[in-house]
Amino acid sequence: MCLAIPGRVIEIKDNRATIDYGAEKRTGNTDLVKPKIGDYVYVQGGFVIEILEKTFAEKTLSIWINKLNNLNKIDERLSQIKRIKNIDENFKKIVNKSLTGMPISKIEAIFLLNSFKKENLAYLFSVANFLRHKNLGNSCCVHGIIEFSNYCKNNCKYCGIRADNKKIKRYRMSEDEIIDTVVDAVKRMQFKTLVLQSGEDDYYTKAKLVKIVKGILKKCNVLLFLSIGKRDKETYKALYKAGVRGMLFRFETSNEKLFNNLHPGQNYKNRINTLETMNNQGFLIATGFLLGLQNQDQQNILDDILLTKDYNPEMYSFGPFIPHNNTPLAKEKKPKLINILKIIAITRLLDPKARILVTTAMETLNKTARKRALISGANSLMINITPKTYREDYLLYPDKFGTKTKIPILIKETMDLMYSIGRLPTELGEKDGI
Ligand code: 5AD
Repeated sequence: MCLAIPGRVIEIKDNRATIDYGAEKRTGNTDLVKPKIGDYVYVQGGFVIEILEKTFAEKTLSIWINKLNNLNKIDERLSQIKRIKNIDENFKKIVNKSLTGMPISKIEAIFLLNSFKKENLAYLFSVANFLRHKNLGNSCCVHGIIEFSNYCKNNCKYCGIRADNKKIKRYRMSEDEIIDTVVDAVKRMQFKTLVLQSGEDDYYTKAKLVKIVKGILKKCNVLLFLSIGKRDKETYKALYKAGVRGMLFRFETSNEKLFNNLHPGQNYKNRINTLETMNNQGFLIATGFLLGLQNQDQQNILDDILLTKDYNPEMYSFGPFIPHNNTPLAKEKKPKLINILKIIAITRLLDPKARILVTTAMETLNKTARKRALISGANSLMINITPKTYREDYLLYPDKFGTKTKIPILIKETMDLMYSIGRLPTELGEKDGI
């Protein structure tokens, strides 16, 4: 599950190691762990996170070699560009620009966003999948997410755990519970990257968070992302020092007026400043936006994609808004899956090397969403591994995907899906610079 495949360090230059995986070579940053040439290592989020014992690494690698080749072949077959009739010439011309590496202008991107014709979109999805394969191969990272508190001081109009929703049961996991859950996910379930998420809950002070992070990293090696809302600069500094390397923090929408309207008591400029602070602190950034908001137009969506791109994100995280009954937006409509797939594919064209997450909200839209997103340009998944006692209380929106499924089954279903489309449930490191 979420296996990081062992690779052998064959070269080290400054803080970058070149790692040999047999079939391919990648590079990884050595700021967290310092390997020597000849060491076997795991890489996550571009960082070498662990040096492995040689016999273990060689055994794991020999098991993987055959599987690697087979999966590669399946993905290669599925990511050929499809012949599709009836595509509009102008549409095809713009999409094809991405195949020659020519930049797509904003006007052209809007033109693509404004197309709803089935054949056009089928072609777009196929080219996006081709580009994903060409630039990133078949590796697809699978992160785990643990939702450790559903207390929130904010009142985002779309969100089911907003402070004013008195109809939900609130919970907080204790420090030890969080540490134990993470250690179990890493040691037993084999996760290499985890996201710890909560509402904006000041109960977890800087000191508590640092204690939790240190407690985790003392017991296991893992790339940690936090998704805890807005904090001050000092807290981010302390968390980085404690060993957190990533922040998941959506700006939600790049339309300032819309943002301020949806987030009473919050402010767009502050949101962006926080993202800047995280970025300047050196965190890997996962960010993105909500789709299908009232008054959001195609220009807003393009701006959302481009703003995300500006942060050179470790991961794009965007998904549909799904109305929740106990919120002011209860009566709104959710967007259609095909329109979300279109945004994924266009994002892939605009940022061919991006890691694009199939978000849980996307998966909630429809049973086929995960697979369709993965073959339309996406290349990353998250599995919710929040302990059973709490899972159903973290309802940002209704019918959240996976809430009722047991964790081992969720993991198995995810792996089966990935293998069926030739994806490798891991991340090897960066392709650049080799
Ligand atoms: N529909 C979809 N996504 C939602 N989020 C919160 N409420 C909803 C909803 N009703 C998303 C927000 C937030 C993330 C944790 O969950 O984008 O950043």
